[in-house]
Amino acid sequence: MLSTNSLARVLHCARRDNGAIPFDVFVGESLYGQNGFYQKRVSIGNEAGDAFCTHAENPLFTELIARHAFPCLRELGGPSLRFLELGGGMGSLKKRFKELKYRAGVDFSYLSLDISKRLIDFQKRWGKDNIQASAISLPLADRSIRGVIFANELFDALPFKVVRAVKNKDQNLFQGVEELYYVLDKQNEIQAEWRPVEPNSPINNYWERQQRYFQSIGRNLDDELENGRVFCINLYEETLLRELNRVLAQGEIIIIDYGDELDKTLNDKGVFDLRMYPKKHEVKLEQAHQSVYLADLTTDVNFTNLMLLAEELDLETSYQTQSSFMKSQLTREEETMIVNPLADHPWHEYDEVLTKDEKEDVFKVLILRKG
Ligand SMILES: C[S@@+](CC[C@H](N)C(=O)[O-])C[C@H]1O[C@@H](n2cnc3c(N)ncnc32)[C@H](O)[C@@H]1O
Repeated sequence: MLSTNSLARVLHCARRDNGAIPFDVFVGESLYGQNGFYQKRVSIGNEAGDAFCTHAENPLFTELIARHAFPCLRELGGPSLRFLELGGGMGSLKKRFKELKYRAGVDFSYLSLDISKRLIDFQKRWGKDNIQASAISLPLADRSIRGVIFANELFDALPFKVVRAVKNKDQNLFQGVEELYYVLDKQNEIQAEWRPVEPNSPINNYWERQQRYFQSIGRNLDDELENGRVFCINLYEETLLRELNRVLAQGEIIIIDYGDELDKTLNDKGVFDLRMYPKKHEVKLEQAHQSVYLADLTTDVNFTNLMLLAEELDLETSYQTQSSFMKSQLTREEETMIVNPLADHPWHEYDEVLTKDEKEDVFKVLILRKG
């Protein structure tokens, strides 16, 4: 995944091997390669270029995460407690957590890990204990973390594959899935090509898990799909979850991201699609190579898949929308203020984190517990 080759070189090799590159290899190169988005282009703060903004920039977001995390850390108690943040970006959470930690008098060390050298260098200004590495291969020993592992908008950022459902047009019978590849044609131009999924592809395991889930709720996934329905599927989310389970001895994993449950998305056409930020680089899925290195390529997280995996790993799960999670951290008095907001009350940022998200229903919170 962490190729340092340029896309052209990757494609050249693919041609030499008479092969082609699947879409996730392209995403890996585009995000993490030497010229990749996260290494070269991701913008920091208000520097010229594209804004890099998530809820983590909002002080209310950090405050409400802390209200959940601090009691959890206190309850665990004992020495060597850690808060491990993965993919912390500009380190906004780290910066504010330090201030809140002193006020709350809870003792833990804050460890940040990010794949981007640019971003990890920036995060250093908010404290030591920074690691530049990929979250899907953590340089941490088994069961070395007691505390909280936190990832905001990281799962959506991992390289993903693109597949489409193929049905027999006359009888509407499901035939299987095809995977999107890029190949070089005779003129050395990059072309998108849909290929049947190989029998040994990990896509099959993923697909079977979703099918089993549908069966368990009395439905048939294949029947519900339209011919040609496209999905972005993130197989690294499984690797990442297994990795987090490996390093966690006791405590919580908090995953916040945009995404949904699989069955909801089937009624709501158009999700699990490619998203490109900044939007000015947006192109159609099959032409995504035209924006290589320029954009953050992401897709919605399949929370059904994450929950099924967590159950397989014996983790206790709790899943809700971001706005309901955030609201559950408010005091009674604050709840009243949200209903009748005063123009100048100190919670003027509440709208972005609570109400707006509630309307849009984009962000979800998955909490996994161990021990
Ligand atoms: C959308 S940003 C979110 C940043 C931050 N959590 C926030 O909410 O502002 C995604 C972050 O994940 C990091 N990242 C992407 N892939 C990663 C990986 N495989 N391992 C570790 N960090 C990764 C990026 O460098 C970036 O900092």
